[in-house]
Parts: sequence; structure tokens; C-alpha cells
Amino acid sequence: MWPDLIKKSKEGGLDAIETYVFWNAHEPVRRQYDFTGNLDLIKFIKTVQDAGLYVVLRIGPYVCAEWNYGGLPVWLHNLPGCKIRTANDVFMNEMKNFTTMIVDMAKKEKLFASQGGPIIMAQIENEYGDVEWWYGDAGKAYRDWCANFAESLDVGVPWIMCQQNDAPDPMINTCNGFYCDQFTPRPNYPKMWTENWTGWFKSWGGSDPFRTAEDLAFAVAKFFQFGGTFQNYYMYHGGTNFGRTAAGYITTSYDYNAPLDEYGTLNQPKWGHLKQLHETLKSMEYTLTHGNITTADLGNYVSTTVYATEESSSCFLGNSNYKLDANITFRGTQYTVPAWSVSILPDCKIEVYNTAKVNTQTTVKVKRPNKAEDEPESLQWTWRPENIDETKILGKGEVVVNHLMEQKEAANDDSDYLWYMTSLDLKKDDPSWSKNITLRINGTGCILHAYVNGEHIGSDNAARNFERNVTLNYGRNIISLLSVTTGFSNYGGGYDLQPAGILGPIVLIGQNGDETVIKDLSAHKWSYKVGLHGLTNKLFSSEKATKWSSENLPVNTMMTWYKTTFKAPLGTDPVVVDLQGLGKGDAWVNGHSIGRYWPSYLAKTDGCSDACDYRGKYESKKCTSKCGEPTQRWYHVPRSFMRDDDENTLILFEEFGGNPSLVNFQTITVGSVCANSYEKNTLELACQGRPISAIKFASFGNPQGTCGSFKKGTCDGANALSIIEKECIGKEKCSINISKDKFDTTNCGDNVKRLAVEAVC
Ligand code: GAL
Repeated sequence: MWPDLIKKSKEGGLDAIETYVFWNAHEPVRRQYDFTGNLDLIKFIKTVQDAGLYVVLRIGPYVCAEWNYGGLPVWLHNLPGCKIRTANDVFMNEMKNFTTMIVDMAKKEKLFASQGGPIIMAQIENEYGDVEWWYGDAGKAYRDWCANFAESLDVGVPWIMCQQNDAPDPMINTCNGFYCDQFTPRPNYPKMWTENWTGWFKSWGGSDPFRTAEDLAFAVAKFFQFGGTFQNYYMYHGGTNFGRTAAGYITTSYDYNAPLDEYGTLNQPKWGHLKQLHETLKSMEYTLTHGNITTADLGNYVSTTVYATEESSSCFLGNSNYKLDANITFRGTQYTVPAWSVSILPDCKIEVYNTAKVNTQTTVKVKRPNKAEDEPESLQWTWRPENIDETKILGKGEVVVNHLMEQKEAANDDSDYLWYMTSLDLKKDDPSWSKNITLRINGTGCILHAYVNGEHIGSDNAARNFERNVTLNYGRNIISLLSVTTGFSNYGGGYDLQPAGILGPIVLIGQNGDETVIKDLSAHKWSYKVGLHGLTNKLFSSEKATKWSSENLPVNTMMTWYKTTFKAPLGTDPVVVDLQGLGKGDAWVNGHSIGRYWPSYLAKTDGCSDACDYRGKYESKKCTSKCGEPTQRWYHVPRSFMRDDDENTLILFEEFGGNPSLVNFQTITVGSVCANSYEKNTLELACQGRPISAIKFASFGNPQGTCGSFKKGTCDGANALSIIEKECIGKEKCSINISKDKFDTTNCGDNVKRLAVEAVC
């Protein structure tokens, strides 16, 4: 996908690609490195270079990024004497080793700009300034060490430390956030924005984030109005957290509502609205980079800024009032600046761009059934059970200790799954013995499946206080607890120490007459087993010759493996698999992990909004949708994971129990495109590779409503529909000059007019 994503980024007006480097992916085991396939960092940088773009290399190597353990390898946690992200020799030595290696690799290939390469900046650490207090004086010493160490690497390009207002010279402190126009760099340093959050990430149980194109463009325009010099979108393309790369409770999709969506297709109008903004800003490059800045505050959150050189000037008219449009007279001319918007006048006379006026098409994507799947309506499944008898019935593990172990310590990062097992000999005269015995487990918020003597007694999605009545036998009883992580936490001071797994206490509570008797099992002999049988034996690999049964397909049965074959959908549109009906687990296509799935986890039911006003400060909970629906129902299957003609295999490991009968493959395509553009603009309509088949609506004047529900307003030129039909039908792309000379406007008066169109692809 890289060349295509980079191409679309360049077309969107980007000059540089900013990327993190994921330490845990490159050094999964201490001193064993992996730069193959998708981990080929050098190839990625060269691909960006070949496309003519620069690179900002955010090495970190702590990166946050909703990535498992913030990108640090979990083995660090288990390295004797290691304290993470602080002045600790063991940690600093490891960080030095990895960072130096990355820098040396890039140097060897002459990739730094100082060597003629594309890397114009590098980053050390990530937002350390936000958590430095937590580490006390050692944090300050670590910050200084990071700066000195980075400098010593002698890369010949500037180093940045984002969100680090006490960054030591010559580190550049940069801003991250939804808005950074009010950010003040240290004296004599440039005003730079490393993360402009284009939307937000999603957690299991969370609704779908949405940040409007208007507000995002407003944030960017304001930043440049107020002296910004560098701005990067986070994310411009977020993609998918394949495998086990997502951090704790972060979804597999990392779409982020970014300008390029999870599948790498244009998220319109966001992509196009920003593209026009970039074009406008670049047309002012000279004045912006050489001009003297004068800003006037007109009150009521309205301001004007002039960038003036001797030859020419460029101007911004900003209105940060979230309710009131502003009518202002600027250099003798009247301008209306809508609420929460910035108008850009590259020559200080004509408004070329306003952040609230979206003249780009809105693209409505639809999912279509897999056309290659001509035969049966539904997929044919085979299955096999996960073999958990050894653990749930026999309690047999690999390591035995007399206490409860934290999950990272017991399992490193080798699997999401860790069994805790103990046996309990209960005599008739045991004081805790009674008919009503409760098992109480204090967990750390991971998923828990509990078994007593082979019987499943209950599960919890995020176990903290788990309590169930249990039936115990006289004599030997086996308690087996399966703790499941969904990735480790990635953010906050000391985030690395946040415990996972079961730390206890684990107790039995019995009733002896009136007396409550508590028997603490925490210091029992606990036996541990990492992973599941099927995972260790790679059942997910399609090449593996294992027995799968087609008889009596179980549904709603925990710990079940399912397998099916499917034909790759025709064409080049992105492919998703609909996992509706399933519980939670992992999925693989031809042996490639497409990530954790969890469609049974519904998004919270409150906090969504039907209408979304771009005006007013954006925060991650504003304008969300899909409350009460599966947090993630569709899972991305990159075409590179599929074979074209041959049979493809989908394997699921279902942990909670579900029904695979509804599973199906779909392609994502453009269903219709809409526009609601102002006159004096050129509107481009495109179905992204397919012809426009019909025009459902067209009106020039003051049309009402939004895409899918447009209505004619009080004024409407009679010829709009026929003009658009003639110029667009049958074409993959059409370009319409919106002018009142072309469209009939007899009954419209002098008001500014808009052209609204809904075209079917
Ligand atoms: C920032 C962090 C990023 C990412 C972002 C939220 O604080 O630097 O890595 O986690 O928040 O998506």
C-alpha cells in the first residue's frame, strides 16, 4: 500500500511524511532485529523519497501511538534493574542501542537531509514533558540525557522533542493537539506542530469519532495566521492495527477519521478541503516565509493578520467566535467571515479560501457483497475445539510459583493468553467448607474466563472484582483462570508499570454457621501456562495439515476454531470481512493476522449526536456516532494478504462464543458523491475510478439540506440538472465552473449562490 498512500498524500498537498519507529516491532526479542517486509523502514523512507517527499523521523523510541506498550518491547520490563523512561542506566543503554542502530541504518543509506537524503528532522522521546513530573528529578536528568544523546548522534538535521517546553537547547519543542495556534515556542525557535489530530482513535466500547473538515481546516489556517511554520497531521492515514499491535482496549481499526481512511481511500470532503487549503497557503509561500507579521484584534474574537514584504502581502481574516459571523471592513472592502472560520486572501484583496466553505465533494461509501462469491449464499465452515483440557481439567502448566504473577512478567508479550491454575484439597472439616462457597478474584481489568473442575463458571470483559458461587468437591479441586489481555497500556507517567493479569487476592468465601470464613488462595502453588494450544501450534496457518470437522458446527461455544475458504472479491476496491455474529477473538487470512476482533462489544449507548456543528472547540467526544452498535463489525483484509484466483482461507479463533453463519466478505466502494459548493469555484466530482451513472439532485441557488436529503430552496436556476447531466454522466471525473453566467439565476437576487449536487456512481 505504501506507494499509493504516499502518492495520495502528495496529491493532497503534503511535502513530508512523518512516521514513528516501532521499537517492539523491530526488536521483538532483545538483540534480535526484524526489518523485513512491512518492517523495512529503510525501504519505506526510500519510497517516500522516490515520490519526492521529505521525511520526519520520530524515532522515540517510546512512541505512545495507541500501540502496544507505547512501542517499547515488553522484555524491557523484565530486564533486571530496568526502569523505563527515566534516568536508569539499563534503560538508557537499551534506548541508546536501538536509537543508534536506526540512525546508523539511515546514515549508511545517506537518508538524512545533511547527506542529501529526505529526512529533514528527527524526534527523540515523545511528549515526555507531559509526564516528566511523575519521574521527579530523575525525569529531568533523563530529559537532558535524551537531548545530549540525540545531539551526539550527529545527524545534521534538527531534533524535535514534542510537548517538551523545557527542552534543552538545541532541541525544538513542538506542539501536539487539536489546535496549536496559541502555542508559544521558546524564544528564537520556530512554531511547529507535530500532531494535528485529524479525528481520534477508538476503544472497544467507544463510539465513532468524527472531526469535521471545516474545523480541521480552521485549526490549520489559524496556526498559519498566527506564525506557524510546520504542521503535521496525526493521522493523515491511520490504517489498521494488525496482529497484536493495538494497545490495551484499542480497536483493530485505527481509521482515526483521517483524510485517508483505514483502507487508504480518500475521506472526502476532508482530504479535498485540506488540499485546497494547502494550495492556497503554498501560493503565499514567499510572503509567509519572508513577510513581517502584523495582527490586529478587532474584538469579539475577530482578528486580521497581514504578512507583508516589500513586493507583496498576504492576509488572514480570522473569526474564532463560535456563534457569530463577522462583518468586517478590511482595507476598504467588506468581508463576511463566518463564525469559527478563517478567510485567506493571498493578495490581501480577494478571498480565495474560507475554512467553513467546503467546495469539495462529499463521498458516500457503501459496502457491496463479494461478487466473486457466486456459489452459496453463505460460507462453508469447518471447525475444531481449542484444546483446553490440560489446563481447565488437569491444571497443568509450565511454571509453578507460590504467588500470583503479573501478566507481563509471566508471559512477556508472547501471547494475549495466560492461564493461572491451582489445585485445592478440601477436607470435610475445612472451616471454609459450606454449601455456598464464593470464589472472589481481584483482577487488574483484563478479560477473565474462570473454570472450576473443568466447568466454566463465568467470564468478565474487564475483571476487577469477579465473584461467582462455585460448587467444590471434597478432595481435589482444580481452579483454572484464563487471563486475556487486549494489548498493554501505552500512555501516562509510569504507564509501563500498570499491572495486567491477576494480582489477587483470590479467595474462597464460605459460610460456617453465622461465621464467614475466608480462605486466601493467593499464596497457593500457582501453575502458569502462556498461550493457547491452537496458537502455539499455529492452527491459523492455512498450510497446517490439521483435522477440521464439517459436522455439527457449534455456535455460541467458547474456545472454538472456525475455518472457511473464499474467493477474493473482484476488482481493486478495498476488502473487509463482516464479522457480525461473532464474539471476540483473532482472525487470519491466509495465515496473516488481520487483528483482534470483538463485534459483540457494543459501543456505549449515550453521547452520540445526529447533528454535528463544526463551530466551537473540537474534543474527542464531540460529534461521535454509532452508539449502541458493535464497536467494530468490519475488519480490513488488505488485498496483499489475498491470492487472486486461488482459494483463500479465513481462520477464526472464537474465544467468547459466536455464530459464523453471517460472516461475509464485502468491498468498499463509492456509492454516491455530493457537493454543496459556492459560486466562483470549480467543483470536481469523481467516483474514484468509476463512471458517474446518474444525477439525483442538482440545484443552483440556495439549496437546503445535506447530502442524501438535498431540497431546492427559494431560488433555483432551472438548468442546473441538465448542465450537470451533460458534463458528468458517463465520466469518471467532471469539473464544473460554478458561475452565475452559466447557471440560470433569474429569481435569486444578489445573494451568494451555491451549487448542490448528488451524483450516483
Ligand atoms: C499523542 C501521542 C500520539 C497519540 C496521540 C493520540 O499524545 O503523541 O502518539 O497517542 O496522542 O492519538
